[in-house]
Amino acid sequence: MTERITQLNKEVSAFCGTKAPDIEDFRIQMLGKKGKITLLFDDFKQLSGDEKKAVGQLLNQLKNLAQQRIAELKQKADDNDAPAHSIDTSRPAAGNDEHGSRHPIAVMRSEILAIFGKLGFTIAEGPEIEDDWHVFGALNFAPEHPARDMQDTFFIDTQNADNPTLLRTHTSSVQVRTMENQAPPIRVVCPGRVYRNEAISARAHCMFHQVEGLYVDKDVSFADLKQTLLYFAKEMFGNKVEIRLRPSFFPFTEPSAEMDVSCSLCGGKGCNVCKGTGWLEVGGCGMVHPKVLQANKIDPAKYSGFAFGMGIERLVMLKYQVRDLRLYFENDVRFLRQFR
Ligand code: DAH
Repeated sequence: MTERITQLNKEVSAFCGTKAPDIEDFRIQMLGKKGKITLLFDDFKQLSGDEKKAVGQLLNQLKNLAQQRIAELKQKADDNDAPAHSIDTSRPAAGNDEHGSRHPIAVMRSEILAIFGKLGFTIAEGPEIEDDWHVFGALNFAPEHPARDMQDTFFIDTQNADNPTLLRTHTSSVQVRTMENQAPPIRVVCPGRVYRNEAISARAHCMFHQVEGLYVDKDVSFADLKQTLLYFAKEMFGNKVEIRLRPSFFPFTEPSAEMDVSCSLCGGKGCNVCKGTGWLEVGGCGMVHPKVLQANKIDPAKYSGFAFGMGIERLVMLKYQVRDLRLYFENDVRFLRQFR
């Protein structure tokens, strides 16, 4: 029996299984109901008292050795099978915490409104389906103005030839709606979607967004307009930015100007974004034409006002270098994800 114990001791010490099922097989072979060591205990029971004394200790040692060895090898095998990081089963499943992102147009829109909000401008909105009067007539567009042409404007219903229904081509229509409903002082910004009959390309789209501004009160001057736009530019592009007003023409303002900001990329030195000029155009502006005030029953002898309009896509382009207008409406998540 001693011999048998010595032999099994060797067998146990030599065993070095690494896979959990092999180790379990070995345990059954040794310590299972019919295991080699278990059977030795049955034999042990047949021994006489003296023999038991001699063998008992050795047999117990063998059993302990086998149990220890098996436990050690099992632990190692478990460690090998476990993933590098333990799993936290209480964590929410991956992917469920994705919230999406805000559209760059929406981000820019609220940035613009927040800046003018600080100057006391409130938000006004109007319909996208408009009539000729609000888009053109009340804004002093001559009857033969090209914007009134089918090629430039989407008409919806031309049955009423004097005042056809159309998709607004600019947010200046909201100026008119505001003046209709509100007496001066008026200080509003009007964000919204506008439509023009253009072929879609990187630089033109049939649908885009503008923010219109209107300020009507006593003694509103061109200096007020300039200061307001300068404040806006500094808030939007940083303190170093400069603005430039170039004489221009709009039927609804007199005098009218085109507003440029110094190129934030090259700091005004000239680069390919500003086409070497150092300036970037952001919108139009001017003093509200007396005829527009009159058309809206505001006395131009008493009141004056300024107005401005800028493209939201244009501002996103200048701030984030988005060069292709089509990207805004294609809903490619790789593009949208970049704005938060
Ligand atoms: N409505 C003009 C456009 O769509 C932009 C504009 C220019 C708005 C001058 C104004 C303004 O209020 O004063 O091109």
